[in-house]
Amino acid sequence: MNVDAKLNVPIARTALLEQEVLSVLEPLRSGWLVQGPKVREFEEKWSVFTGAKHSIAVTSCTTALHLSLAALGFGPGDEAIVPAFTWVATANVVEHLGGKVVFCDIDLETFNLNLESLRGCITPKTKAVLPVHLFGLSVDMAPLLALAKEHGLWVVEDAACGFGSTYQGQHVGTFGDTGCFSFHPRKAITTGEGGMITTQSDALADKLRRLRDHGAAMTDLQRHMGARPYLLADHPDAGYNQRMTDLQAALGAAQMNRAEAIVAERRRLAVIYDQAFAQLPWLTTPARLEGFGHGYQSYPCLFHPEPLNAGSVERVNEQRNEWMDRLQRAGISTRPATHAVHMLSFYREKYGLNPQDLPNARLANDCSISLPLFHGMSEAEQQYVIDQVLAVSF
Ligand SMILES: Cc1ncc(COP(=O)(O)O)c(C=O)c1O
Repeated sequence: MNVDAKLNVPIARTALLEQEVLSVLEPLRSGWLVQGPKVREFEEKWSVFTGAKHSIAVTSCTTALHLSLAALGFGPGDEAIVPAFTWVATANVVEHLGGKVVFCDIDLETFNLNLESLRGCITPKTKAVLPVHLFGLSVDMAPLLALAKEHGLWVVEDAACGFGSTYQGQHVGTFGDTGCFSFHPRKAITTGEGGMITTQSDALADKLRRLRDHGAAMTDLQRHMGARPYLLADHPDAGYNQRMTDLQAALGAAQMNRAEAIVAERRRLAVIYDQAFAQLPWLTTPARLEGFGHGYQSYPCLFHPEPLNAGSVERVNEQRNEWMDRLQRAGISTRPATHAVHMLSFYREKYGLNPQDLPNARLANDCSISLPLFHGMSEAEQQYVIDQVLAVSF
């Protein structure tokens, strides 16, 4: 390879347009910095884009998940089922509320939860299930919702990666009791930190709005627009402060003006990768399923130079890591798709778990690799990644 041609391709890159950068000046100049008119605008645009009846902006997806469970009444002694392969936050919020995390396994084809494993985790104490639409691919929601209904379980969708992801034409986050989105910079739309809760329920939306704002019956914006802004609101709940600032919301709302274009660009990049890697027997690219619109928060692949099982996983993991080292030396950032939470020391020790207890989550942990994909990625950057991947064989 010609060393002069080496590029540096990050795993993701924030690509804000000039007008999006400038959007934060408006709240700075108006002086309304906390949750106010920009949060309202971002929420309205989010509802239009997703089709959700209510959108409630918060400080992160983690707080969105936490607030959702709290608003539903999840508490000490309750169990929640969480797929073992997800970001740790999905499980942590259950712990924060004094609940018990029960991990179900995943399907390696989709990296999403396995329904039969989920069914086997249900006990009389199960109150909630948190399906995670990993990396932008929706969970198969119809059978999941049927199972949840049969057992009277709350469904809190972890749609952190779900921007632009659809199931049978409907945006994720609009199926369960709530949907929770992330605006961390690794996600398609970013506000630095930030999150959004979607819900179709008027009563739940009211409760969520109160809980994010110290339990107040009225927002600051409503109070300031009202006839007697000098009188303080009642606080029917002991709430939290999980309000998004107007600075963040201005940035989010500005990016929503090109939401469709962002999704289309990420899908276009994924098609190019899919075609380039179609012939590699040792790499499985993200699943393309009829009725599932992938949002491509990332481009997670499964690396399998030999059949994956308990006997081969350590060997394959070593090979994957060596391949990641090689790509890193070539200037290309990669990551394991995410981590298996049951293998992290807190959960492993608290619940006495072994990697093999959730065998597919373990295989995904050790043998997955995400390649760089982000809107704003240049043709040269993507071609460089393709050339470097095709330069090796296993
Ligand atoms: C699946 C999943 N859930 C939850 C989160 C937490 O999101 P946030 O960083 O906005 O709290 C993430 C973030 O990476 C995630 O990927």
